[in-house]
Amino acid sequence: MKNKKPLWVMALSLFSATMLFLHEPFASQKEEAVAKAVAEYLVAGRAVIAKNQALINDASKGDKGFTPAVYEAQVFEELSRKGVDMKAQSAGDPVGKALIAVHESAMEAVADAQPQINEAGKGFKGFIPAVYGARTGDKFYKKSGIRLKQTSIKFRGDYNRPDEFEETVLKKFESGWEKGKPYSEATTAGGRKVVRHMLPIYIAKPCLTCHGDPAGELDIAGRPKEGYKEGDLRGAISVTVPIR
Ligand code: HEC
Repeated sequence: MKNKKPLWVMALSLFSATMLFLHEPFASQKEEAVAKAVAEYLVAGRAVIAKNQALINDASKGDKGFTPAVYEAQVFEELSRKGVDMKAQSAGDPVGKALIAVHESAMEAVADAQPQINEAGKGFKGFIPAVYGARTGDKFYKKSGIRLKQTSIKFRGDYNRPDEFEETVLKKFESGWEKGKPYSEATTAGGRKVVRHMLPIYIAKPCLTCHGDPAGELDIAGRPKEGYKEGDLRGAISVTVPIR
């Protein structure tokens, strides 16, 4: 007897191979879109905190008026300049759902920080973009299962330490990488299929008070400045989205 598979078996295996082939890129494209949106949200939120840093650190004021509602208006404005309309997001699609959840997390982080922000007679209060980012990331992970963090080769906070993957990508960003271009890869983490996404972040004017010149001088947080110049690569936002 000839070892020939019936036609329907061949057709079926061809069909499943095609489905597998088609399915994989589509699946990771959706997760990649989610990761991209979440990273961009965090950059916008961090910029809002940086722009309000002088107000937050104003020792002469008690109530700063930097409420979640004020934060919301400013972050929506910041995002709309990047073409993201937060008011149009729907929980019915994965990107909208993630954006709504990350925004809720950030709103909670700003709400939780109110006593800290409104403390009178105190200058530096420790509510800075990095702290905002870490608290938002923790809350967002609990809501979504998506990991969101900021990281840097020159990390100050141990919780921002890059893992092996992040270190490799940060080094890519440092050597001739197109400015602002993110990096995405479908890979595994902790035995799960994930999309990992990194968005490089750069030093802007408001960052210089703490991260600028002269290197080694203590910033208002009492930490040595790195001596960065405006436009220098500071690190990245890193997002890990499980593929379901
Ligand atoms: C008020 C001072 C201050 C300002 C302003 C500030 N940072 Fe930071 N930044 C810090 C401190 C302090 C840490 C370390 C946080 C910790 O240890 O918890 C940090 C941490 C970071 C990290 C995480 C990596 C690390 O070193 O742990 C990144 C990325 C970062 N800052 C980028 C920026 C950018 C970009 C801006 C401007 C948008 C900015 N920072 C503005 C003080 C500041």
